[in-house]
Amino acid sequence: MTDSQAHEQADGHSDFVEDLASLTPTVLASYSRIEDERLRELVTSAISHLHAFVREVGLTNQEWRQALDFVNALGRGAGPGSNRAMALSDLLGVSTLVCLLEDTAVTGGAHHTASSVLGPVWRQGAPFVESGGSLLRSETPGEPLLFTGRVLDPSGNPLPDVTVHVWQATPDGLYENQDEEQEEMNLRARFTTGADGTFQFRSVLPGGYPIPTVEPLGTMLRLAKRPAWRPAHIHFMLHREGLRTLVTQIFHPLDPHLHQDAAFGATKDLMMGGFEEHTGPAPEPGIEGTWYTAEETFVMVPGESVVPAAPIE
Ligand SMILES: [Fe+2]
Repeated sequence: MTDSQAHEQADGHSDFVEDLASLTPTVLASYSRIEDERLRELVTSAISHLHAFVREVGLTNQEWRQALDFVNALGRGAGPGSNRAMALSDLLGVSTLVCLLEDTAVTGGAHHTASSVLGPVWRQGAPFVESGGSLLRSETPGEPLLFTGRVLDPSGNPLPDVTVHVWQATPDGLYENQDEEQEEMNLRARFTTGADGTFQFRSVLPGGYPIPTVEPLGTMLRLAKRPAWRPAHIHFMLHREGLRTLVTQIFHPLDPHLHQDAAFGATKDLMMGGFEEHTGPAPEPGIEGTWYTAEETFVMVPGESVVPAAPIE
């Protein structure tokens, strides 16, 4: 026996379980010595809710083993770039719940643009493009989109010098990192807002896509009769010193899957504004036939400017 083990045994606490009734309080007491206050709250609350769930449904050994198999299967076959835990969180609505809860807590009710999930395909290092430039780095068939973004504070004042990351899928629903036909960083760019808080870009209308239904997530969706689709959207991340980083997605308002987002990310606040179809002459060369315009206002609040780690290289 090591000194530290002897010390743990001698510090007076007991993990001895008398009976069913005493099990949960015993476990909670055993984790109550975590020194960090917030971590202690998170761990003991999670234990408390997990025990309550098991008691409420009268969980059997067989059911618990199935649940453990599910968690183990999530990790099996996962490699670099895969993030099945994030996919599970998205599919259970937890990612969106955390986004909306934190929005409410941080903004204190101030006018703001709702957050949405970062997703698994944001990359560092997309090229900086002048406002009005294109997201296309290789030929990308699709219906042209001219997008105007406006970044404001909660009082409506323009916010200049905000870095805006933009990334989206092709009309076929493929991100550049998933498609050998696309050039490096196709449909990805960074912009800087001007003195009037605006930025503009040219792109193509994105397409919706099915989320990868690797097992056991595919079975979960199938049992719930849930489609695996995400409605078409464009991802944005906006940051500037002194402002809370805004990670969000803006959705194609006419997408047929808008009301069945597998990830519950398509919230009411995040429909693409000013979405319009045009057939006349376009304001830019090289655009013929049907083209679209959209405008979106992004409202950022004061706070911490944190750029998250990229899920993929
Ligand atoms: Fe996406």
